[in-house]
Amino acid sequence: MFRFNQIIIFTLLLTAPFLNAATYKGQKVYIETCKGCHGGGQELAASKNMRTWEKIMDKKGEKLADIHLSSKKAQPAWEYFSDSKFTKDSKHLEDFLTEYAKDSGNVPACN
Ligand code: HEC
Repeated sequence: MFRFNQIIIFTLLLTAPFLNAATYKGQKVYIETCKGCHGGGQELAASKNMRTWEKIMDKKGEKLADIHLSSKKAQPAWEYFSDSKFTKDSKHLEDFLTEYAKDSGNVPACN
């Protein structure tokens, strides 16, 4: 697990300069906000296809906020998801998540 994390961090460092700004911002938000609960962002992104992320992140992430606000386990994140900070971040997050979606063709480990 330790090595796996190192590989992920290394991959992030290598690829970050080549990502477009919005994707990079989304990744930064992910690392700061979501990683603690969900682990690797590219793995989470790759768990759904683009269409699904677009739906989840539609209307400034309304659905994603709902998922968390209706889960007791996600309580530590309630403040964030009901804040305007999230609505501001949601576009960047969407860019990041769709960039690495299952059907995006971007498999970070192989390019
Ligand atoms: C405090 C911990 C916590 C934080 C922070 C958090 N989540 Fe979650 N998230 C959860 C929990 C718990 C669930 C499961 C809710 C359920 O299924 O009842 C969940 C569910 C999800 C789901 C749905 C999973 C699925 O398979 O349908 C997505 C997508 C998701 N989170 C993305 C994010 C993103 C993106 C962020 C950062 C903006 C984030 N989460 C921040 C705890 C967290």
